[in-house]
Amino acid sequence: MKRPEPLIAPSILSADFTRLGEHIDEAMDGGADWLHCDVMDGHFVPNISYGPMIVEAARTRQDAFLDVHLMISDPEKYIDAFAKAGSDQISIHCEATPHLHRALQMIHQSGCKAGVAINPGTPVFELDPILHMVDIVVVMSVNPGFGGQKFIKESLHRIEQLSRMRNSSGHPFLIEVDGGVNLDNTQRIIAAGADVLVAGSAVFKTDSIADTIGKMRKNAERALRPVV
Ligand code: DX5
Ligand code: ZN
Repeated sequence: MKRPEPLIAPSILSADFTRLGEHIDEAMDGGADWLHCDVMDGHFVPNISYGPMIVEAARTRQDAFLDVHLMISDPEKYIDAFAKAGSDQISIHCEATPHLHRALQMIHQSGCKAGVAINPGTPVFELDPILHMVDIVVVMSVNPGFGGQKFIKESLHRIEQLSRMRNSSGHPFLIEVDGGVNLDNTQRIIAAGADVLVAGSAVFKTDSIADTIGKMRKNAERALRPVV
């Protein structure tokens, strides 16, 4: 299977919320492919971030592909609200509901693409029964809950495992990596089999959002087309 071009999805969790609109514009004008929205409920993860209102605000500001990552318990209850807010894709955690299959069906029924996210402590083979029905798998490379954490290096092996599962199953889901992604590890993450890079602090906590996205893209492409 031919590898797609790597996509960059800045996480607005690390944006300056006093000027969220401008930061969203800078990321999109700077070449971001998607906008990643991190929703935390203070229950599934220890932190609380924001709800559908911010997704709706992002939707109003830009015609971007909104990649919504729900780090919430019982995500079924909120799928409709996030779909109505303008999400293009909704990912839920496999650890967050006993009814993963049904929840993924609900996301598709809401008109959104469906993703499953997996914590660093959960074996990737647990996703096997639902891989045929997801558009994307979000491999968490930090324990979810906070931006600005260090990339867990064992995640590279998990990306490789999942990439092999994709090849052997033939299911065409994308692999997204979320947490601690920066300019130094981009190339290794893409080389391991990832297609989509989520980056929060690496993009928004820099002097130039556009420069950082440009450099990240170059590093990612280098993994697919090594310079000889
Ligand atoms: C972690 C979130 C991530 C996070 C990424 O709980 O899901 O999307 O905001 O932020 P950085 O890139 O700063 O690790
Ligand atoms: Zn995320």
